[in-house]
Amino acid sequence: MIKVRVPATSANMGPGFDSIGIALSLYNTFTFEEIPRGVEIISYDERFNNEDNLVYLSMIKTMEKVGHKVGGIRITIESEIPVSRGLGSSAACIIGGVLGANELADSPLTKDEILKIATNIEGHPDNVAPALFGGLVTSIMEGKEILHNQISVAKGLEFVALIPDLTLSTSRARSVLPKKIKYEDAVFNVSRVALMISALSNGDFQLLKYGLQDRLHQPYRSKLIPDFNMIMDICIENDSLGTFLSGAGPTVMALTNDFDGDFTNRLQKKLNNLRNKWTIKELKIDQQGSVIFHGD
Ligand code: HSE
Repeated sequence: MIKVRVPATSANMGPGFDSIGIALSLYNTFTFEEIPRGVEIISYDERFNNEDNLVYLSMIKTMEKVGHKVGGIRITIESEIPVSRGLGSSAACIIGGVLGANELADSPLTKDEILKIATNIEGHPDNVAPALFGGLVTSIMEGKEILHNQISVAKGLEFVALIPDLTLSTSRARSVLPKKIKYEDAVFNVSRVALMISALSNGDFQLLKYGLQDRLHQPYRSKLIPDFNMIMDICIENDSLGTFLSGAGPTVMALTNDFDGDFTNRLQKKLNNLRNKWTIKELKIDQQGSVIFHGD
């Protein structure tokens, strides 16, 4: 029996569209057991308990790649990461499936090969890279290769996820993006990415409210999220260090260095007045990435 624990991820981090993501302390755990024949998938949601399951599909793809076969498989999924909320639940399923298959096949793949398979399934590396390695990770697709780098983040930052009771698929959120952008918007984002990375790394958190700004995806996606602009204003009024759309949304991520819960309490009171129900989760950076446990 093999267990794989994979963290949630918040991709883009404002201006770093499709290239930056961070692993956070919310987890999915996948248990893989070989059985004589057939496929059994056990999760909290009946809709996912079939052979279209992303964990299973990612596992099969990896097994084909490494030439490994099993009689049958039982996959049990314990989920903390909410689905289609911009917190990397798909990436967690993909990484879980690829790592599970690699372990069943006696680990023929390197971590870089695992990342490459996972990126090919997901289409972009910014969630799967931090889900695999942990921490803040930059990544690019260079031809068929995925290059990645971890950046250490100065201590003292908490990630406050504002999660609505509505889902938004990545494909829908990508469908509203423009085919072309203005040169000045490209410069706006490039400069913000540089500032964000140096501010996170040096602990100059007062710069994050500028460094986390974006013109490549948030202005277009904001229209899909009820009260998005009001929520951004609420976060600013309550002294968030910076706020951005997590991944493709609809979760909004606010950063704070206030660990006594006061920031969160103030936000929750304001969010209670909105049309949708917004749940707040206080998260830390996960530094470990995916972890594998072997059992009997
Ligand atoms: N970079 C991706 C996007 C993350 O924003 O569409 C979501 O999977």
